[in-house]
Amino acid sequence: MYKFPKDSKLNNPEFIFGVATASYQIEGATGVDERCESIWDTFCATPGMVYKQHNGDIACNHYNLYEQDVELISSLNVDAYRLSIAWPRIIREDGSVNQKGLDFYDRLITALEKKNITVMATLYHWDLPQYLEDKGGWLNRETSFKFVEYADVVSKYFGDRIGFYVTLNEPWCSAFHGYRYGIHAPGIADEASGFLACHNLLLAHGMAMPILRKNAKKSKHGIVLNFTPNYPVDESSIEAAKFADDEHTHWFIKPIMEGKYPESVYQHFIDYMPTIEVNDMAIISEKIDFLGVNFYSRSMVTNGRQGKVSDTILKKLERAEIRILESDDVLEDETKAEQLQKLMNQKESHYLSVDLQDVERTHIGWEVHPEALLKLLTDLHRIYKLPPVYITENGAAVDDHVVDGVVDDEQRYRYYQNHLLMVHEAIKMGVDVRGYFAWSLMDNFEWAEGYKMRFGIVYVDYETQERTLKKSAIKFQEFLNARKKGLL
Ligand code: FCB
Repeated sequence: MYKFPKDSKLNNPEFIFGVATASYQIEGATGVDERCESIWDTFCATPGMVYKQHNGDIACNHYNLYEQDVELISSLNVDAYRLSIAWPRIIREDGSVNQKGLDFYDRLITALEKKNITVMATLYHWDLPQYLEDKGGWLNRETSFKFVEYADVVSKYFGDRIGFYVTLNEPWCSAFHGYRYGIHAPGIADEASGFLACHNLLLAHGMAMPILRKNAKKSKHGIVLNFTPNYPVDESSIEAAKFADDEHTHWFIKPIMEGKYPESVYQHFIDYMPTIEVNDMAIISEKIDFLGVNFYSRSMVTNGRQGKVSDTILKKLERAEIRILESDDVLEDETKAEQLQKLMNQKESHYLSVDLQDVERTHIGWEVHPEALLKLLTDLHRIYKLPPVYITENGAAVDDHVVDGVVDDEQRYRYYQNHLLMVHEAIKMGVDVRGYFAWSLMDNFEWAEGYKMRFGIVYVDYETQERTLKKSAIKFQEFLNARKKGLL
């Protein structure tokens, strides 16, 4: 079983342990009970987007097997389950509510209640209704208002039965993977679109917060962000790593905590910035009850120019140069020269991702570096006035196989043990971490990687839908059982 120092908060039943999943990744049953299409159905059907053109049509068939899956969750002795609700099951294109969709989550939540398992529900884990994408998706500010209507329906219906409401899962992925780099649905690759999608997502989050609070007064309400801390490869790359953190970490957390986007990134990408309306930042920075932190790995960066980004800068330099040449006013010249200097400095401070050799990696290629989780938590704690933190995802992809009924996922249980120790350390250093959710309860549809990447602590045989506890799951089971019995 997993082991922590005797005095560790993790040994105390007040610290919540849970497992996590998401609707499109496990439910299947995409064509039943009047579920609408989502952007992931469309994306999967587009050749070349997803590994072997896998899709979520069947996935883990959780829609039909939810009862047995709740038994499974309960057998792990966890306190909580993080699930996501599929927007396309709840709201039809004409705006009416699909009762059959609500009924499914009602059955699921009832089963969890019977087992005394706290529910954390994410309202948006990337499955946007296709009918909204057809009108621009997250590039259309109207989508944020549609999200609020949907959040209102769900929270009115379930109220306090959902202990923790998460507005969005990883807006970085929705916005940047989906609209900036084009590697997730809806597959748009455009700088300005990435930043616009981000702004509308954050707006949707902020606008939904008061509604959630009103409808579920006893529940806690927050957001889940993903963090991949950037490390400089050497001393000369410190500024580069700082900029990368501004772009990928602070761009998302700072507006929520402080109502501001980081200035460095704003200036750097000035030509791609969305229109920010007067009250937007106040809405986005609506107080949250908790912050969900998803952590898997770190990223190494060095000085250099990252393809797409450097083009932007070069264009800026060109424009600045032209402006200098065109100007015959000396003072103006100086100002422009300063401007040019600033732009050049920014160019210097830009970054290039590098892959370290000879480091441990998981099946998906992500470096294993538990200390980065400790650094992340303590850094965030130092920089922001954080609300209570929950680690809402953490885990490893392993190329698992069932051998004589056993899945010995050594790398994964080592990963859990070492990352949990970092959570323990962070708490000791003053970070208010109150819970930890393993990603994932079971193997599932890993987005663009299809079913190739297995993140579960439970193995899924996709042919038979048989579930087998991996050793990493058994270790959770044993640890939580001992904790329950007060044996730690
Ligand atoms: C996160 C996602 C989750 C899963 C893990 C591996 O970015 O939130 O759905 O795919 O990565």
